[in-house]
Amino acid sequence: MKKVHIKSFGCQMNVYDGQRMADILSHQGYEETATPEGADLILLNTCHIRDRAVQKVYSELGKLRDIKNAQLAGGQETKIVVAGCVAQAEGAEIQHRQPAVDLVVGPQAYHRLPELLAEAARKRVVDTDLPIEDKFGFLPAPKPQIIRARGVSAFVTVQEGCDKFCAFCVVPYTRGAEFSRPAAQVLAEVERLAEAGVRDVTLIGQNVNAYHGEGPGGAVWGLARLMRRVAEVPGIARIRYTTSHPRDMDDDLIAAHRDLPQAMPFLHLPVQAGSDRILAAMNRKHTSDEYRRLIERIREARPDIALSSDFIVGFPGETDADFEDTIRLVDEIGFASSYSFKYSSRPGTPAAELDAQIPRAVMDERLYRLQERIEHHRQAFNAAIVGRTVDVLLERAGRHPGQLAGKSPYLQAVQIESETNQIGDIVQVTIERAGSNSLFGRLAEAGRTDGKDMAA
Ligand code: 5AD
Ligand code: SF4
Repeated sequence: MKKVHIKSFGCQMNVYDGQRMADILSHQGYEETATPEGADLILLNTCHIRDRAVQKVYSELGKLRDIKNAQLAGGQETKIVVAGCVAQAEGAEIQHRQPAVDLVVGPQAYHRLPELLAEAARKRVVDTDLPIEDKFGFLPAPKPQIIRARGVSAFVTVQEGCDKFCAFCVVPYTRGAEFSRPAAQVLAEVERLAEAGVRDVTLIGQNVNAYHGEGPGGAVWGLARLMRRVAEVPGIARIRYTTSHPRDMDDDLIAAHRDLPQAMPFLHLPVQAGSDRILAAMNRKHTSDEYRRLIERIREARPDIALSSDFIVGFPGETDADFEDTIRLVDEIGFASSYSFKYSSRPGTPAAELDAQIPRAVMDERLYRLQERIEHHRQAFNAAIVGRTVDVLLERAGRHPGQLAGKSPYLQAVQIESETNQIGDIVQVTIERAGSNSLFGRLAEAGRTDGKDMAA
């Protein structure tokens, strides 16, 4: 068998795309290998969201060129493929900057990998077509043994692209317009995963709660309806979805958090900033109070829900007072976890044209302060669960023999000692201690909870 090494950068959509490319290549006689050394094909699945992500790709490509040359000297030919959003945005420019790259393939064209690789055997190839056809209809199903090797939690892309056009963001240009997969196609994929042992699915999309896929008989299904149907798939015990836009959080979806036991009490709902002036300049289409009211409604439906967000500091024109609005919002909501970034000017986006770009030192200081508050709330959220009994889905062997590691309903990592349980089991665990990155607990006595169980 030939060997392919796939390295994905960036978001969960790239992890999913990387797996689907591995599935295509497994039908072409490739098996995955964990290192680039010795691989016949090296595939970088890239991220374009911030400038630093792009720089990482080019420095990685320099290292891969050296591996390619060393392997050639030893008589082994190596092909280098750049996929993902840098491929889409930079196209042929990638091969100008790094001539060792054989193929550049965008996120909406990778279903053509077999033909493109055949072409790349003869010349350098670039394919960055945005969809005319639905690539999902062309993707082969993963083999059951490959699904099993990937574990009991899986991502399923249900939606791609974005029509929101936040002023800072490249996604609408790299991933294209919003597209929702038909419900039947999603369900067939979830059923296949569940048959191979998957218990936990995260439905993913750049703007996943804008999902409006075709249902049976031509009806349009929203995300809540899709989740209800996914919940009926035998074996599926947990459902999450990411990433969402506040504007698309409709009543039906909020109700699903109240009514659907499989809907996990965790929601990533990026707000980006706390100042209305900055939110307007970002073209976010919501104010900070609208976000607060939305959170209230979600918490009415599911009081224990863990919330998370993305934040950008140093958007052009952000004053100290604007930044304080962000800190205030963070302290008011009390997110269970969050991602935070320095604004990165992306060519071609409206924000790149704005005056009043913020000095780097100011951004550094703001990011430091914001992260300190985010960390404070994360630790408080984790500390609050100590002493409680929650359901944990066991996902992998722990660090030491006899340990198993899994996830709480709130997406916290949990370690337990158990000789009797298996990966894929959902067990009741009493949390004893919160470490810096994991919670530690012991198996609860069978059938007993403390009555305060936050789990569904
Ligand atoms: N600069 C900094 N952060 C960005 N994000 C998107 N574009 C940029 C940018 N130009 C962040 C947003 C988004 C997350 C995926 O990445 O917070 O929600
Ligand atoms: Fe980018 Fe905004 Fe769309 Fe999210 S909602 S992908 S930040 S344009």
